[in-house]
Amino acid sequence: MSKVKTIGVLTSGGDAPGMNACIRAVVRYALHNGLKVKGIKRGYAGLLEEEIFEFTHRSDVAEIIHRGGTILFTARSKEFFEDEYRKKGAEIIKKHEIDALIVIGGNGSYKGAEDLAKLGINVIGLPGTIDLDIGSTEYTIGFDTSVNIVMDAINRIRDTSNSHERCSLVEVMGRHAGHIALWAGIAGGADLILLPEHKDTITDDDIVHAVLEDKRADHTHSLIVVAEGFGGSDRLAKLIEERTGIETRSTTLGYLQRGGSPTALDRVHATMMGVKAVEVLLEGKENRIINYRNGKYIDDDIHEANQMIKGIDENMYEISKIVG
Ligand code: F6P
Repeated sequence: MSKVKTIGVLTSGGDAPGMNACIRAVVRYALHNGLKVKGIKRGYAGLLEEEIFEFTHRSDVAEIIHRGGTILFTARSKEFFEDEYRKKGAEIIKKHEIDALIVIGGNGSYKGAEDLAKLGINVIGLPGTIDLDIGSTEYTIGFDTSVNIVMDAINRIRDTSNSHERCSLVEVMGRHAGHIALWAGIAGGADLILLPEHKDTITDDDIVHAVLEDKRADHTHSLIVVAEGFGGSDRLAKLIEERTGIETRSTTLGYLQRGGSPTALDRVHATMMGVKAVEVLLEGKENRIINYRNGKYIDDDIHEANQMIKGIDENMYEISKIVG
């Protein structure tokens, strides 16, 4: 049986639509099972400032499932990568009688969580990032909402690109990974998708050639999705216009991709993962990462999970080149 009586929960790193649905599930499932729940504001930075409060009733997380962002706020804490601050964080967790800490965040947040585990804190990680770039899971909370935002933006840009018979580049987030670009590029019907994972195999000439091929094939316009990890969409726009004579414009979507009401998929995954995090604590497990693999919500050892790496789906990428 678990010795956990009080759970702490925080959100860390870039916010992601669905984080509130996850917080809501953690709080309500924990309270339902007789546990206490403390919220920690502003991620690890807030932990170090002891910005800690108690969720006392399920109504404390009412009316948030549909809201983007995170009611706990989030931050990227540089201090937390230093030993003395991590030790301070562990001491604060113990001082507040928190028996286990649930961290909702991405890769960087998981590293901080593993450091806390090494200091004797029982931590559970939940994959909260729009990037889908956590190697141990096939899904991260926020990804679907972000892809749909990009697809909607592509639909809008497609109209004006078509009217002006232009070449249009759309730069999207994803940090060093190309998952958002690949999925949104396929969903948006992009003619070309530029991914960091293939940056070394694509030259400027290849890109110019692809745009000219579109022209020769009587496409009224070209639409290119550029992952931020590939980068250079402004430079490429100038280069394409100079080399092809086709009017070319670029749009960087930026932080539009991080907000808005989470989709049903994000809300459901966030809810089920949040519940799974509390369940593994009730089972007496320690230092686990909650993952979605092969259609199931599972938990892996935090150290093993943090070693796992994942590239893009190369088959999807090949198909995108043929049907794009
Ligand atoms: O990790 C999510 C993300 O939106 C990345 O896609 C992006 O590169 C990064 O965060 C931006 O970080 P910040 O919000 O700190 O500017």
